[in-house]
Amino acid sequence: MSKTPATATSKAKAGAASTPQAVLFDAYGTLFDVYSVALLAEQLFPGQGQALSLLWRDKQIEYTRLVTTCNDGAHYRPFWELTRAALTFAIKKLAPHADSTGARAEFDAKVEQLMNQYRSLSAFPENREVLQTLQAQGVPTGILSNGDVAMLTLALKSSGLHPFVDHIISVDAVKKYKTHPAAYALGESTLGLPASQILFVSSNGWDALGATWHGYQTLWVNRSNQPFEELGTQPTRIGTSLRDVLGFFPVSP
Ligand code: LAC
Repeated sequence: MSKTPATATSKAKAGAASTPQAVLFDAYGTLFDVYSVALLAEQLFPGQGQALSLLWRDKQIEYTRLVTTCNDGAHYRPFWELTRAALTFAIKKLAPHADSTGARAEFDAKVEQLMNQYRSLSAFPENREVLQTLQAQGVPTGILSNGDVAMLTLALKSSGLHPFVDHIISVDAVKKYKTHPAAYALGESTLGLPASQILFVSSNGWDALGATWHGYQTLWVNRSNQPFEELGTQPTRIGTSLRDVLGFFPVSP
């Protein structure tokens, strides 16, 4: 027999992505709405709520990159601490007099209020149904996040999603933030599967790109009609809500 058909079949199998064996979700921005803090931020800093929530998020991610790339990670601090540092920076930048002498106690109280809000961010409304469906289909699920385990556990519990997530995987285990390869590799080692058999889901374009480069099948959840990163690689699929995860798992008739 000619070897051609077998080779063609193998190539077809290798080329067409197979149904993933498990799903990993990014947490902040993907399961939990990091901009849901804008309302409280607006009450505390009138006229600045939206800008504060955006700068807070950008600075938080910038700090993860700074501590991962400088001095081989010597300046690593857990995500909760970086989140507080980023908030402090954002307030000082947008409300320069907020921490002036005499206002320090009020400044600290506002930081505390916003950090408390961050502990229990709103989850996107479709999450529960999607996670429940995956559980009913027997698909293992996990979170692979920059967040530390304590903050992830609290966010999952306060949103009621905790029973539907099998693994909480924090980059804190390797002290390297995404998009470092050691961070993405945690998903493979925890699940005992190669990245090519795992679906990684993120609403953060840079995270969906990093995971794609790592070898995961990826879904970029583009809830707000943003452009994808312009670096020449596309995610496996682009969706508009977490529901698009279910499209990767066809239900047999
Ligand atoms: C996370 C950040 C990227 O949850 O949102 O990992």
